[in-house]
Amino acid sequence: MENKDVIIACDFSSPEECLNFLEKFKDLERKPFLKIGMELFYASGPEIVRELKKRGFKIFLDLKLHDIPNTVKKAMKVLSSLDVDMVNVHASGTVEMMKAAKEGLTREDGTRPLLIAVTQLTSTSEKTMQEELLVNASINDTIAHYARNSKKAGLDGVVCSPLEAGLVKEACGKDFITVTPGIRFADSGKDDQVRITDPRKAREIGSDFIVVGRPITASPDPVRAYERCVAEFLG
Ligand code: C5P
Repeated sequence: MENKDVIIACDFSSPEECLNFLEKFKDLERKPFLKIGMELFYASGPEIVRELKKRGFKIFLDLKLHDIPNTVKKAMKVLSSLDVDMVNVHASGTVEMMKAAKEGLTREDGTRPLLIAVTQLTSTSEKTMQEELLVNASINDTIAHYARNSKKAGLDGVVCSPLEAGLVKEACGKDFITVTPGIRFADSGKDDQVRITDPRKAREIGSDFIVVGRPITASPDPVRAYERCVAEFLG
C-alpha cells in the first residue's frame, strides 16, 4: 500500500447513512480510504467494516485502544481478523501496551494493518496537560517523546495535527507515518477545528495521510470535494 492518501472521516450515526453517502462514490475509479470511528462502529458493530471491505474500500478503524497490554493484544487480534488497513492506540498506554498491540495485530502469515498511535489529543491544551494531568513538559516535547515511544514499540506512525507533522518527522525520521486531521480548504470555514491547514500545505509540512470529514461529508458535492482534496494533496 502506498503510504500517502486522503482518508474520508465517515462520522455518521448509522450504517444506512454511511452507505447512502458512499453510493455517490460508486463510479469513481479510485476507491476512497475511509475512517470509521467509535460512533459508527459502536452503532453497527463489525458488520459495517465487513460490508465496506466487501465493497472494496480501505478502512482506518479509529478506536484508539488504551487498556492493559493483554487486553489490547487480544482486542487487536479481533480487529486484525476484520482485515482493516489501519488501526490505532493511545501512546500514553505505554511502550509495553503498544508492543502488545502490534503482536496481537500480526497475522500468522506475518501481515498486519498499519498501526499508529495518538500522541496527545488535539483537544488537550498544554495548560490542561500540565495542571490537570500533571505532565510537567511542554506539549510539543510530549508529542515528540510519545512519537519516539511509538517508534520504539515498532509502530508505523502517529496521528497528529498537520502543524505537528514536521516535529514528528524530525523526532522519528521521514518514514515514520503521520496521519493528520484538521484539514480545511484554504477558501472555506474552520467549523470547530482550531489548528488547521489545507491539503497542499499539509503535504508540504510532512503529512502522509490527511483525514478529512466535513469538508467532504457536508459538501453539496462530496465527490468533487474529495477529488479536490486528492488533487491538492497528491498533486
Ligand atoms: O469534520 P472534520 O474534518 O473536522 O473531521 C476530522 C475527523 O478527525 C473527525 O473524525 C475527528 O474526530 C478526527 N480527529 C480530529 N482531531 C484529532 C483526532 C481525530 O479531528 N486530534
